[in-house]
Amino acid sequence: MSEHFRVHGGARLVGEVDVVGAKNSVLKLMAAALLAEGTTTITNCPDILDVPLMADALRSLGCEVELDGDVARITTPQELSHRADSEAMGKLRASICVLGPLVGRCKRAVVALPGGDAIGSRPLDMHQSGLEKLGARTWIEHGCIVAEAEGLHGTQIWLDFPSMGATENILMAAVLATGTTVIDNAAREPEIVDLCLMLNQMGAKVEGAGTSTLTVHGVTELKPTEHRVIGDRIVGATWGFAAVMTRGDVRVRGVNPHHLDLVLEKLRMAGAEVTVYEGGEDEGFRVVMEGRPKAVDFVTLPYPGFATDNQPFAIALSTVSEGTAMITENLFESRFRFIDEMIRLGADARTDGHHAVIRGIEKLSSAPVWASDIRAGAGLVLAGLCADGATEVYEIFHIERGYPGFVENLRKLGADVERVSS
Ligand code: UD1
Repeated sequence: MSEHFRVHGGARLVGEVDVVGAKNSVLKLMAAALLAEGTTTITNCPDILDVPLMADALRSLGCEVELDGDVARITTPQELSHRADSEAMGKLRASICVLGPLVGRCKRAVVALPGGDAIGSRPLDMHQSGLEKLGARTWIEHGCIVAEAEGLHGTQIWLDFPSMGATENILMAAVLATGTTVIDNAAREPEIVDLCLMLNQMGAKVEGAGTSTLTVHGVTELKPTEHRVIGDRIVGATWGFAAVMTRGDVRVRGVNPHHLDLVLEKLRMAGAEVTVYEGGEDEGFRVVMEGRPKAVDFVTLPYPGFATDNQPFAIALSTVSEGTAMITENLFESRFRFIDEMIRLGADARTDGHHAVIRGIEKLSSAPVWASDIRAGAGLVLAGLCADGATEVYEIFHIERGYPGFVENLRKLGADVERVSS
């Protein structure tokens, strides 16, 4: 029997909530542990399914992995398997992030291609062309991406687009290449900076983290390290939007507020009072909202632009805001599909290509809805919080891939949400 969420709308969210380590960082950091023989320790790991799946995937490559609460200890042997095509790998959406480390360490890799995703196609051309510039040959065979190299040599790489995944893979291959690699038009996301920090702690020489130009001076070997995963800015944003939509007062801890600068600015434009807390244990922000939010436009772009992962929350907010908002999605072509579920909740929404126009209404109306990916699912729950009656949200395994303790946290903030058997 499966479970779903039942969300009774109407409550004002008030209180404090802790943000966990970033999903989009932890898996790459675990993959980076492949680059050094010995035991690497990663702390602040979120309690999400992808972490044990990644642990299994690393075990299938020959590592020993111990998961203990929010700590992952990964012991990498001298000899690694280069075949990441096991069942464990197949289950992992982010499996592709072991490609760069395996090519760097073993000079060859066979990695199961990640399955299709409801948000749109995920091509790998930039991963391949980057590795090829470093000296590898790559091709697709029997559902796997294969890469082989005699040796990897530093080079100049221009990415067509600042892809996170391509930047990560090229970076993790280049740290053990001979000579200097320059990656231009590199992704600048905080999760990339987190990876660069960890690689440098391991003895890599990466310069320019957080800018569009990453310069990597290759080294012959890396050593294991201990590293703390940064707080999840997308989860942090989810709580910020929830506070505004429910006209609440929510203090969010455990995330660097500067990773949400643009999000918080948009929430201010919607009418919220936002306070940021920098550094130390208090790090985070507080969002206080009185009255109905005002409509604000959003455009998704690579960081420091508005993250595509936050787009469903922008849509959810717009459905109940005063006025009309235009939301533009520039990264994934199918990411508006979930708007049909918002329309079931009474949203006045229309899409045209990669633009959505949302005319805000006073109150949504509860209905059964289906989550299609992590963020769309969370967006539907936020909408349910502003709907009359009980909204049933199905396919919640998507949501739980990114939000440990989502229901518990919502309830702690005063929401009337329960998990029920379907
Ligand atoms: C990561 C995040 C995901 C987020 C996305 C964009 C993880 C596990 N996932 O995904 O949550 O939504 O960044 O911020 O970290 N592209 C190509 N060719 C390539 C690679 C990418 O055309 O070789 C395109 C994609 O189709 C997309 C854009 O580039 O339109 C950005 O993709 P990318 O940044 O690579 O996303 P992911 O790393 O897969």
